[in-house]
Amino acid sequence: MEKISQITTGKAKSLYTTNDEQYLVMEFRDDTSAFDGKKTAALENKGKVNNQFNAFIMEFLSTKEINTHFIKLLSNNESLVRNLDMFPIECVVRNRATGSLCKRLGIEDGYILETPLFEFFLKDDDLGDPLINDNHIISFGWATKEELGVMQSITLKVNEILVDFFSEANLLLIDFKLEFGKFKDQIMLGDEFTPDGCRLWDKDTLNKMDKDRFRQDLGNVIETYGEVADRLGMQIKLD
Ligand code: TMP
Ligand code: ASP
Repeated sequence: MEKISQITTGKAKSLYTTNDEQYLVMEFRDDTSAFDGKKTAALENKGKVNNQFNAFIMEFLSTKEINTHFIKLLSNNESLVRNLDMFPIECVVRNRATGSLCKRLGIEDGYILETPLFEFFLKDDDLGDPLINDNHIISFGWATKEELGVMQSITLKVNEILVDFFSEANLLLIDFKLEFGKFKDQIMLGDEFTPDGCRLWDKDTLNKMDKDRFRQDLGNVIETYGEVADRLGMQIKLD
């Protein structure tokens, strides 16, 4: 499938049309951003690592009956995906408190939640991705009650699947963010699942193995993403 013209360029990925309107090419770039675009850098090989990391996780989720936009890898840093009509919403689930939850509620970092905590955020960098609830989504027409119920239940199911999956690699899945869209009236997982959009801590040392290394200037960002990939049995190609 041929890449024709760029339709959007986000903080870390670009999307291109193809000769079939049902499909897009998703290109993962080395650009890295945090704090809603306030901190940026280009990290060598991040595009390749994240593209192949995402492909591996999306394919694994498909085997567990999660519908995703992912079709196939096209190159080390590009994938073919379904062209979804995206909801302007971010679905976050947390197993332990860290990041914005600790700041918002004054909770100690690493607090183990009684049950996974689900939250919706509005996807709007200028507003700092504010926390929203079901009523905001329904009243503003960002999604229907049924659609948000589906997004929430898929996110919680992905959490159950991936907590166990990462645990086998001696990693704690602390939290993550998913984005969904519609393809011919079917809600599907879109965007990406990479260490850029989740938190992973080593089970023994509690070392951070995700984008917090970049946010907090801990160093070895992409080397650490590579270690996570190795532990999960991925063969990342950088040539
Ligand atoms: P937070 O602690 O900043 O709210 O983030 C929770 C998790 O969701 C964390 O793994 C990062 C991810 N996330 C993103 O990747 N992008 C976002 O815009 C938001 C709000 C969260
Ligand atoms: N808000 C998220 C972060 O701090 C996502 C982003 O801004 O890119 O990383």
